[in-house]
Amino acid sequence: MKKRKDFSRREFLQTGAVAAGSLLAASSAKSDNTVLLDPHPYTTAVQSTAASDRVRFGMIGIGMQGSGLLTEAITLPGVECVGAADLYDGRHLLAREITANGALPVTRHYQELLDRKDIDCIVAAVPDHWHKRVVVDACNAGKDIYCEKPMSHTAEQGFAMVAAAQKNNRIVQIGSQRVSSVLGAKARDLYHEGVIGDVEMVELTLGRNDPTGAWEYPPPPDLSPANLDWDTWLNDAPKIPFNNLHFARWRCWKEYGTGVGGDLMVHLISGMQFTLGWNEIPRSAQALGGIFRWPDGRNMPDLHVVLFDYHGIPVYVRLGLGTETTELARFMGPKGILDTGETDIKLSPQRGIDTSPSYYSSGYPLKMREAYVKQWHAEHDPPVGKEPFMTDTIYKGWDWDDMRPHLWNFFQAVKSRKPVVEDAVFGNHAAIACHMANASYFSKKPVYWDESTRTIKT
Ligand SMILES: NC(=O)c1ccc[n+]([C@@H]2O[C@H](COP(=O)([O-])OP(=O)(O)OC[C@H]3O[C@@H](n4cnc5c(N)ncnc54)[C@H](O)[C@@H]3O)[C@@H](O)[C@H]2O)c1
Repeated sequence: MKKRKDFSRREFLQTGAVAAGSLLAASSAKSDNTVLLDPHPYTTAVQSTAASDRVRFGMIGIGMQGSGLLTEAITLPGVECVGAADLYDGRHLLAREITANGALPVTRHYQELLDRKDIDCIVAAVPDHWHKRVVVDACNAGKDIYCEKPMSHTAEQGFAMVAAAQKNNRIVQIGSQRVSSVLGAKARDLYHEGVIGDVEMVELTLGRNDPTGAWEYPPPPDLSPANLDWDTWLNDAPKIPFNNLHFARWRCWKEYGTGVGGDLMVHLISGMQFTLGWNEIPRSAQALGGIFRWPDGRNMPDLHVVLFDYHGIPVYVRLGLGTETTELARFMGPKGILDTGETDIKLSPQRGIDTSPSYYSSGYPLKMREAYVKQWHAEHDPPVGKEPFMTDTIYKGWDWDDMRPHLWNFFQAVKSRKPVVEDAVFGNHAAIACHMANASYFSKKPVYWDESTRTIKT
């Protein structure tokens, strides 16, 4: 999820020269070896907005993320919001404010949107413990759905969601939006061009260090059981009296959320799957962590370190809410390193060869060493003026975390019936990695994926 300062950086990019149409062609390298990537092609696509060609969607959940999705979605050509559902009435007002439509139909009961024949699809941004029910209900009602990440709250739920999508032939897009970003596409192209060779290890890291980053959100001041259907909000979580902190900070508790795994790592895992062309569940996960910095009653760790085994390739993940570090996915191979950050990609090629006589020869007696060094230079020195030149290349682009093209990919698929970039199978695989990380943390043991029973085993 984006923090305020991340939005600021993004806004800066949007209002700066990069977004003002002065992007250079994708291949135009500057002298400092920085390449500015073209914007997403959808921005220049000519779209028909004839009424018969419009995509009409219903919005479910207009909270922190839903308000952003709604704001972005209604700016896309040919896309219209025709109804909104939320259990908290304050968000009915918000939906009408965002759409500038004081008559927008709003309801506490999302089923009313699913029953409407004039609604083509749903965009849902409800807490994690609601994802399965909303997706299954939408698919069974014949609606395509964009559902926020992580796809599921448990591994079992994910398979029920995949089955509902397949049985009803519905389009399901999961909301880890980086897979639709220009930077995501460039990272994937670079990897498949072989710039680092076959990946041998991946490191995924992200750190925050402030209350909002640690989910200590301020609940809406007027929130009460009078304007919120609290019992329904709880869904299958244990029944407890109204609690405004649980409503606003649900990520802190496993009964509703999926911790830093489902909140943050799922983006990194989805980006990794997309970059490398992987679409699978890891074989095993081994996690460490704890509540170090925010002992505020939460039961989810605020520091979570995980080592996954993806068909023999180690994937190391570090997620922390106690020290800020930049978000980074690092792919390492024999030909170098591909670092993918929030607004750029850095390719650091390596030749993987000795560029000078081996220092092991310092253990040779003098004559032997001199002979070795002489021979080495004779065999390896490049001709004068032909010395190889290695340099890093930085690709700068739009925000890695780019919601608009991801929504666009979904709405286009609703019309074309072509597959989306992040379907239920892909989303399920990324979410199960998060559930494995959490299972290992809570059990204090390594966990394994058992495909025969489709369960996580210790
Ligand atoms: N893709 C991203 O970058 C990103 C960023 C933030 C959040 N998210 C995801 O978006 C989802 C929502 O997160 P949030 O921070 O917006 O939560 P939030 O608590 O701010 O908003 C959720 C809203 O859903 C409503 N809701 C809950 N159950 C409902 C139901 N059955 N029917 C109708 N409305 C219901 C709540 O009343 C609330 O208004 C989560 O799954 C989260 O992981 C994704």
